[in-house]
Amino acid sequence: MILAANFKMNHTRASTREYLEKLEEHESGGVELYVFPPATALQAHSGKVRVGAQNAYAAVHGSFTGEIGLQQLQEFGINTLILGHSERRHIFGESQELIAKKFAFYKEQGFRIFYCVGETSKERDKGSEAIHRAIEAQLVGVDLEYEKLIVAYEPVWAIGTGKSATPEDITEVLAFLRSKTSAPLLYGGSVKPANIQEILHIEQCDGALIGTASWDITTMQEMIDLAKEI
Ligand code: 13P
Repeated sequence: MILAANFKMNHTRASTREYLEKLEEHESGGVELYVFPPATALQAHSGKVRVGAQNAYAAVHGSFTGEIGLQQLQEFGINTLILGHSERRHIFGESQELIAKKFAFYKEQGFRIFYCVGETSKERDKGSEAIHRAIEAQLVGVDLEYEKLIVAYEPVWAIGTGKSATPEDITEVLAFLRSKTSAPLLYGGSVKPANIQEILHIEQCDGALIGTASWDITTMQEMIDLAKEI
């Protein structure tokens, strides 16, 4: 079981350190833990919790204002990365071409890649074929057999809205993804203590990528305890 905390643009270097210390002290009972702090809070960390970056550019270093690359990640021994998050796609306009380029670069570097896909509410309204088409388009240029790939299904309409996808919705899309890859499959989108067990019980679900509910350490610990019971 994998639980990953995506801090997005929350927490500082100091509060991330404190969070990681408290997470290390918590009995995880075999639940694999990942924390993705903002770039300025990336830090060397040893222990059971793995720290990863939310995004990075496909270069070692260079003239890419506002970006971080391999050199900046290597300073802290970071070798885990989220790519293709819907906030990168929709707010910052990242194209599939750019995301696929990043994927190829960091795969070459042996990174563990949490790769996100998910449909918009408009696409969901059109039915399951449209959902599959949308997800397929987000997989173009991605090596689905890469051994360090983890795929996160994050429906855009369920992110940060408090309204999670139903177990039926999740089951359907995870089965579709499972037909394409043997990588671990996560769900993300308004995961919280009240729904995490139901979600983790879904057959093809290997864990959760959690935003809002992960930012508070006590709530995260609570979700780890609930995951341990599965
Ligand atoms: P929320 O848990 O806030 O819905 O965010 C999910 C997410 O985007 C994780 O990457």
